[in-house]
Amino acid sequence: MSHNLLKGKKGIIFGALNEQSLAWQTALKCHEEGAQIVLTNAPIALRMGEINKLAEAINAPIIGADVTKMEDLAALIDQSMEHFGGKIDFILHSVGMSMNIRKGNPYTHLNHEWELKTLDISAVSFHRVLQVAYEKDALNEWASVVALTYIAAQRVFPDYNEMADAKSLLESIARSFGYHYGIKNKVRVNTISQSPTRTTAGSGVKGFDGFINFSEAMSPLGNASAEAFAGYCVTLFSDLTKYVTMQNLYHDGGYSSTGVTQPVVDKMASE
Ligand SMILES: NC(=O)c1ccc[n+]([C@@H]2O[C@H](COP(=O)([O-])OP(=O)(O)OC[C@H]3O[C@@H](n4cnc5c(N)ncnc54)[C@H](O)[C@@H]3O)[C@@H](O)[C@H]2O)c1
Repeated sequence: MSHNLLKGKKGIIFGALNEQSLAWQTALKCHEEGAQIVLTNAPIALRMGEINKLAEAINAPIIGADVTKMEDLAALIDQSMEHFGGKIDFILHSVGMSMNIRKGNPYTHLNHEWELKTLDISAVSFHRVLQVAYEKDALNEWASVVALTYIAAQRVFPDYNEMADAKSLLESIARSFGYHYGIKNKVRVNTISQSPTRTTAGSGVKGFDGFINFSEAMSPLGNASAEAFAGYCVTLFSDLTKYVTMQNLYHDGGYSSTGVTQPVVDKMASE
């Protein structure tokens, strides 16, 4: 059911790879709530072609951009403004990648070239997006920018590996840029810390099944789904949350505030 929360708003959504993607579900929800959208992903991801289905469903153009390339991001912002015929109201950064995780290198034995690539794609890219938008004055006043993060930025999850460091940097960039963009244009910048979710990036983490089941058992409300994420994200893009900025917001069914739950205590007692 639509509440028209994003009626008349225009946004760019990074990172819809397939139906499971957090960005995919968010694009559908933003469209349902009345927004116009530009979809973007890495050229290599576009070649897989899945995104065309989404583009058709929400009548959105697709503009390829590798988030590690300033010239790609500059072209994306220019072409998006041209398409919209004006400035942008929201951006979702839903991008992450680690070759060390993909290749199974443990945290104590990283390939540091790949580590730098992880930081570049998963964190510094957020600064790039914000900087390009800032320099081009591409965002309307009270625009809202959101990036996706995970609680491994605050606590250790051994197999989350170097992505934990990338997420810490990402959250710090949201705070720092949120200050500067708030002063300049009243633009707000936040990160949402999402429950583990079965997606291509999520499932790449070693032991993901154990990870997601543990989290489910430790969350009073259970893990938040991709669809639920999309709903929360819409509220942050809407005018109802205008004074929320520079925050890391947990969307995790209560996991981050829970020490232990009764089912976990019972399970430990039975072992
Ligand atoms: N799935 C989870 O459990 C979970 C939990 C918390 C946070 N997150 C975060 O959510 C975000 C989205 O991931 P997802 O779980 O939807 O998985 P996903 O694999 O569907 O999305 C990751 C996206 O990053 C894109 N990408 C990778 N390299 C890129 C590049 N160089 N340029 C442009 N795009 C690039 C991929 O093409 C893909 O679309 C990531 O930041 C991830 O860390 C995921």
